[in-house]
Amino acid sequence: MNAERIGTDMEKPAIEGGTPVRETKLFYGHQYIDEADVKAVSEVLVSDYLTCGPKITELEERLCALTGAKYAVVCSNGTAALHIAALAAGVGEGDELITTPITFAASANCALYCGAKPVFADINPRTYNISPECVAEKITDKTKAVVAVDFTGQAVELAPLLKLCQGKGIVLIEDGAHSIGTKYNKMPVGSIADMTTFSFHPVKTVTGGEGGAVLTNREDLYEKLLLYRSHGITKDARFYQKESHGPWYHEQIDLGYNYRITDMQCALILSQLDKLALFAKRRREIVEQYNAAFRTMPELFVQEEIAESDTVRHLYILRIVPERLSIDRKGFFEALGAENIACNVHYIPVYWHPYYEKLGYEKGLCPNAEKLYNEMLSLPLYYSLTDSDVADVIAAVKKIVAYYAQPVQNV
Ligand SMILES: Cc1ncc(COP(=O)(O)O)c(C=O)c1O
Repeated sequence: MNAERIGTDMEKPAIEGGTPVRETKLFYGHQYIDEADVKAVSEVLVSDYLTCGPKITELEERLCALTGAKYAVVCSNGTAALHIAALAAGVGEGDELITTPITFAASANCALYCGAKPVFADINPRTYNISPECVAEKITDKTKAVVAVDFTGQAVELAPLLKLCQGKGIVLIEDGAHSIGTKYNKMPVGSIADMTTFSFHPVKTVTGGEGGAVLTNREDLYEKLLLYRSHGITKDARFYQKESHGPWYHEQIDLGYNYRITDMQCALILSQLDKLALFAKRRREIVEQYNAAFRTMPELFVQEEIAESDTVRHLYILRIVPERLSIDRKGFFEALGAENIACNVHYIPVYWHPYYEKLGYEKGLCPNAEKLYNEMLSLPLYYSLTDSDVADVIAAVKKIVAYYAQPVQNV
């Protein structure tokens, strides 16, 4: 409550008793499903294969064509993709895996699944992606892999990260859960790191309901990924340790999982990929409208992009400059909610979660990440958002900023 301002002719935010900018709620993310998607899934439902069928290979080939990667392994979700990628990288007991705290827990949990230790490296405070300098500081002789997240869809600084990893036997896994369609130095993500993972969760740019993939150019990693996706069982005679009993023969040669994806999900993802260019174009337009509105406002900080990244944005981060406002991030979030703009926050620093605290991680580990967490929220960003919806979001943000802006002389 800003007592000084009440009673002036300034427009009151809804949280202070004013009228909301819109009557219906806008969410921060939403899938877009059209008739072609419904048809694609329905066709599979009446076909011979619901799983392990032709749509699996079709999607894998399509992802290779899209990214330029030599191999793709599709799986049940982005978390499974990270798990099999970490296993294929050889991450195990006693190893360390470096990642960012500003990510979904899965990027770090994949180390724990393998008995390894997640090590958190701080972010670049302007791009919000993991800082290669901070990664360099965290590398030890136990480091087996780096999981670098293309946060919001912007590519991580792949060239310096690859340079750090190569020659030290460290595997670079790019967590591209946010970044399908993004390019780094004109090359699609998926074709650059040792392995790149995708997620097809409904808030992502392209969805299968659930779904994931790992892309790689390395045959040795590809063969391991196939094994770990399916129980560690192979039907490839090259890998048999015993003599085949006949055409039905297969061998379990390692311990894997059932991380398979269904043909229905693959059909949906394939149909969604037909619209990727459209999705990307609309997302770019919305980001440009937000940036144009917020860039000139000293109360807000607009995420910076590295020149190398041609970004298909999954998330739009609104970051407040706390010294310029008499409202904090929580207050801002609630004020936007009262305007019927339902936001979200991506992400709570992973090591702040109680599970990680119990493992011994302490606050203060990555100051840039923690500062960002306290100042950010995610605004609505998805294909079907209309220009009028975007205008409402901008109007709501401006109304809240105008009402709670600190006079400049007090800054
Ligand atoms: C950065 C990041 N990595 C990994 C994942 C895990 O993906 P999934 O939800 O498909 O398991 C997500 C999904 O939220 C994510 O945002």
